[in-house]
Amino acid sequence: MKVVETCGEMFALCRTAQPPLGLVPTMGALHEGHMSLVRRARADNLTMAVSIFVNPTQFGPNEDFARYPRSLERDLELLAAAGTDLVFLPGPPEVYPDGFDTWIEPGAVAEGMEGAARPGHFRGVATVVAKLFTITRPDRAYFGQKDGQQVAVIRKMNDDLNLGAEVVTMPTIREPDGLALSSRNAYLTDEERKAAPVVYRALRAAEELWRAGERDARALQSAATAQLESEPALSSVDYVSVVDAGSMAEITGTVEGHAAMVATAVRLGTVRLIDNLVLE
Ligand code: PAJ
Repeated sequence: MKVVETCGEMFALCRTAQPPLGLVPTMGALHEGHMSLVRRARADNLTMAVSIFVNPTQFGPNEDFARYPRSLERDLELLAAAGTDLVFLPGPPEVYPDGFDTWIEPGAVAEGMEGAARPGHFRGVATVVAKLFTITRPDRAYFGQKDGQQVAVIRKMNDDLNLGAEVVTMPTIREPDGLALSSRNAYLTDEERKAAPVVYRALRAAEELWRAGERDARALQSAATAQLESEPALSSVDYVSVVDAGSMAEITGTVEGHAAMVATAVRLGTVRLIDNLVLE
């Protein structure tokens, strides 16, 4: 496994690597969610690259960039054990040198939900992923359904800008009690951790109702909201949305004819958790 710190060297190595090349972009602090992407990328491709870069431009001024969990040594051990060929580990000035001033601005797909709650977030995500795609030219790139809107933003960018990667979406990996794995779960206090599975229960409540035949988006949304509001430890619910799983457009009437995604973001103490389920 080779660890590469510059864009120039990464570009050169990827150009001469054996295709197909699979890329797994991450911000490190790797857990089973990330590793499920890595294993799939390993199985699918002759060359497999993982990037670890805590991307400052996707964090808002009051967000957790400075305290984002970092565990580089362990990450590299996990990646080596999983048979990674290349780890791209650039520092911020390598990705954003002085004077950097060109951005990818996603459109409507990035307007609601996370885009509304975190202004500029998807501009930062799209810009860094476009750079990673340009540097590595992946045949396939792997993303988790956990960040459902992120995958939609990246798919749209990949199509609109002819970036030419096959974007592969992998299922959300969860704890036995349903909590989606996330690097941010490490910030939860014991009490918050006990309350956290309410997020999945809420999404499941909407799903159960849908399985029972309910097709009204508002009714599905209300079922999830009611579950969340029954948990006193939640400090707030940012949103519960029912959207088209491709376009991320809010569904107001019936979900019939859509692959619908029920998505939520909540706050538990200082921690913000997001999760979603696709009704299919
Ligand atoms: P990060 O949060 O490190 O996540 C890297 C990838 O792992 C993403 O595609 C994310 O959806 C996936 N992932 C995280 N938790 C998961 C889980 N429980 N199950 C399945 N997949 C999971 O997402 C980012 O980094 C960044 O925004 C990035 C795309 C790297 C751009 O900076």
